[in-house]
Amino acid sequence: MTPDAASHPAALPSTDADWWRQAAVYQIYPRSFADANGDGIGDLAGITSRVPYLAALGIDAVWLSPFYPSALADGGYDVDDYRDVDPRIGTLEEFDAMTAALHAAGIKVIVDVVPNHSSDRHVWFQEALASPRGSAARNRYIFRDGKGDNGELPPNNWVSLFGGPAWDRITEPDGTPGQWYLHLFASEQPDFNWSNEEVREDFRTTLRFWSDRGVDGYRIDVAHALTKNLDPAFDALLDVRQGHEHLFVDGQHPIWDRDEVHEIYADWRRIFDEYDPPRIAVAEAWVPAHRRARYASPEGLGQAFNFDLLMADYDAAEFRRIIVDNLAFADASGSSTTWVFSNHDVVRHATRYALPDDSAASAGGIMSGGKDGKQWLREGGDPAALDIPRGLRRAKAATLLMLALPGSAYLYQGEELGLQEAGQIPAADRQDPAFLRTQGEEVGRDGCRVPLPWTPEGPSFGFGPGGAHLPQPAWFSTYAVSVQEADAGSTLAFYRQALALRHELQTAEELTWLDSGRADVLRFERPGGWTVVSNFGTEPVDLPAGEVLLSSSPLVDGRLPGETTAWLRA
Ligand code: GLC
Ligand code: CA
Repeated sequence: MTPDAASHPAALPSTDADWWRQAAVYQIYPRSFADANGDGIGDLAGITSRVPYLAALGIDAVWLSPFYPSALADGGYDVDDYRDVDPRIGTLEEFDAMTAALHAAGIKVIVDVVPNHSSDRHVWFQEALASPRGSAARNRYIFRDGKGDNGELPPNNWVSLFGGPAWDRITEPDGTPGQWYLHLFASEQPDFNWSNEEVREDFRTTLRFWSDRGVDGYRIDVAHALTKNLDPAFDALLDVRQGHEHLFVDGQHPIWDRDEVHEIYADWRRIFDEYDPPRIAVAEAWVPAHRRARYASPEGLGQAFNFDLLMADYDAAEFRRIIVDNLAFADASGSSTTWVFSNHDVVRHATRYALPDDSAASAGGIMSGGKDGKQWLREGGDPAALDIPRGLRRAKAATLLMLALPGSAYLYQGEELGLQEAGQIPAADRQDPAFLRTQGEEVGRDGCRVPLPWTPEGPSFGFGPGGAHLPQPAWFSTYAVSVQEADAGSTLAFYRQALALRHELQTAEELTWLDSGRADVLRFERPGGWTVVSNFGTEPVDLPAGEVLLSSSPLVDGRLPGETTAWLRA
């Protein structure tokens, strides 16, 4: 090996087809990561300029939320053109430059594919509006005549996940009130008709387009919704936002998680396998754990998000059960599992864990389970209502536990700073369709999408030379990257240490539980003597023998304090 290759081993092309199985993947929400040209919107050049930061963080891959041309009716998940870059975010050439810079730093690139719906500005939808009933152009989406004497009522009672009806009525080209189209999300997000071969072919083209540009993998948006059954028998469906799988045999719900959706992913697998190494994919599928295996199977997408820890309470027994179950499910699917606490759709976990103990659990919907912070947001999102030190302490403990588990770990930009949710965004500045379509009853997801603070000062705390497309609270300055880089005890320094150690320690996808002697303390071991102790209680506990490599809060007299995780080596 030449000295140069030895000092830049990551620059060599990877031949390891299994790189994803235990990868640490960092999610970038491009509009809010770094803004190179000062227009207030994060961009690809901004990401490229921050590659050294990403490399120092020690992640294996980035996943980019959509950067495609979009009116931003849903933060870019309303795609106008699947094979281009939004001019406000960059160009295809800048995408190539970013990919090359990331690859040179040994970081893989995962992009978001949004196959359930396009935007209403997509050429196909515009063509559908301009074409007559029953035309081939309409058949790429889900158009139906309305009910009532004059078709003035929606075809069925389905509602949008963002509130309001899931159907909008169009005006026919001749100016008369016309058909209705289905949109499970915002009105600007018409659902594709996946029974149409033309739709399938177009997505094959998209997957090849980005794979040919060197993209390593895909995150598949609402992967469990693509195929639907519009039989009139389901016209009076209960609220689609509620999980009511129990009313249907598995795979038979008219919208969610239908068995035939897997034909699509088997087809995509053939495309992924055309490449060397094969492209990877991870399904965003909000399905019960036992239904995850088919999405994650090597004949399908290969991996699926597991949101169980994200929805769990901070509780040792619940964490343990989730870990045991998901390792078993992953084993059965032939895949590795995934873990995640934060993403662009949920209240940041440092804030969820800071909520008062009596705050309401989620009311259900796609997010059900532990405290989701929605009630706190509705009550004004005041940081004064939070126990921020406790939130951060628990978040770091939970993250250090997660980073020691077999499988891949997904991190969301800003969590490495211990960033709190920005709960107090003025209504006039809010962008989330969930807020706009429910007249604010649902506060929405803008609070985790506020541009990152890089410096304690400057017009947008170093996000860029201009402003920020969502307002940053003043307290963001204390979380700035430059502040934390200068502080060996910062959350950022902790994430860097944890990710570096994980690389060193990560071996076979195995975990052995050890008896901790306490119900509120989890203890396990990974091959090679990597021992993990996580204290969910409030009392300090003794640590087993061994060298303490890292702990999420400082030890007290050699003991592990409450709400703290430690890694040891025998
Ligand atoms: C997924 C995305 C979310 C988006 C929705 C519709 O759940 O993560 O941000 O609003 O799909 O595309
Ligand atoms: Ca910009």
